[in-house]
Amino acid sequence: MIDVFTEAAFNTYYTRGYIDPGIDLPPALVEEMRQHYGGQPDTRNDYPQYYKKNEHQAWLEGRVVGLISTLMPRYSERMVEKLYGESYNRAVHGEQVFIQRLVTHMLEQGFGRLFRTRYLVASYDIYLGNDHLHRSFTDIHSDIPNFHHFYETESDITIYVPLVDVNAANGGRLAILPEARSKLKVPGNVLLKILEQHFLARPHCLDANGYIDPDRIGQADMDSFIKGRPYQDLMQNYKTSTALARTYYGDEFVMADWAKGRPVIFTNKNFHAAESWRNENMHREIYMLRLLPVYDCRIRLKDKLHGRLFNHHLIDTREGVVHRFDEAVDFSRIPAEDKLELHARPVARATRPAATAAA
Ligand SMILES: [Fe+2]
Repeated sequence: MIDVFTEAAFNTYYTRGYIDPGIDLPPALVEEMRQHYGGQPDTRNDYPQYYKKNEHQAWLEGRVVGLISTLMPRYSERMVEKLYGESYNRAVHGEQVFIQRLVTHMLEQGFGRLFRTRYLVASYDIYLGNDHLHRSFTDIHSDIPNFHHFYETESDITIYVPLVDVNAANGGRLAILPEARSKLKVPGNVLLKILEQHFLARPHCLDANGYIDPDRIGQADMDSFIKGRPYQDLMQNYKTSTALARTYYGDEFVMADWAKGRPVIFTNKNFHAAESWRNENMHREIYMLRLLPVYDCRIRLKDKLHGRLFNHHLIDTREGVVHRFDEAVDFSRIPAEDKLELHARPVARATRPAATAAA
């Protein structure tokens, strides 16, 4: 993250867990967002579709749940639908209709000045709506990667827009464990490294540029990756770190009032939990946009997320503009000097001083 943000922004992120860039959205845009999502079917919940082919999520929750999902997929599917159905009234993913206007407004108000890195992919958006009877995601967790997104990094940034006030009276605030308080954060970029390690050695999984193409990865290749030691070790790391965060750092989380229509920046790769919503007269409504820093890894972005185009907006923080493409952003066309380094450049190894008689 230190390469992603400017020094001042990084310090704020690191010590407070989030950044308030001091930008308010035009009230008319906020109302349009609420109306757009309010017009979606009452019970539209897009979460369960992420669960399929991500059995490791069940495994993370425990051996028994993992076993049920493997042995009784239909039953586990219903369990998952129930779990998410109890969390949100509506969870709408990948509408992508507000990305350009939201980001353009923020860039006009100086959003780009937070960043040291030049490019960020505006990947996909999520709307979450729940009343006081739905619990939302109140357990301490960090959002583990999944193969539906494929490319995820430890420095993914979320523009988090409360569409209603979240505060002590309403509830619904986000509790975050700042890195400075615990250093507990799963090193997500290990995922990029082990994806490269596994798939670059399989030519049929590569595109014409020699990048790993998630759409060319067959089930057998994916299964061998998932069952492999590096990935299993990473999942174990999530499990261990989550248990430590829940057991020893529960009282170190920060929680602030956030105002309707005022975006804040956080990362879903830090530990976080939603506060219960208490206001019986209105719903909690949150809009999120996930931004992906661009690393110099050889992974091609997917361009369809459950049938919808995604990963097709590229933010240029230096020029202060957002580009929209008809397909996913092509990493191979971004110059190396504008990418973050996944692999450290080789450095001269420190040489050991020659032994002396005195030593
Ligand atoms: Fe989360």
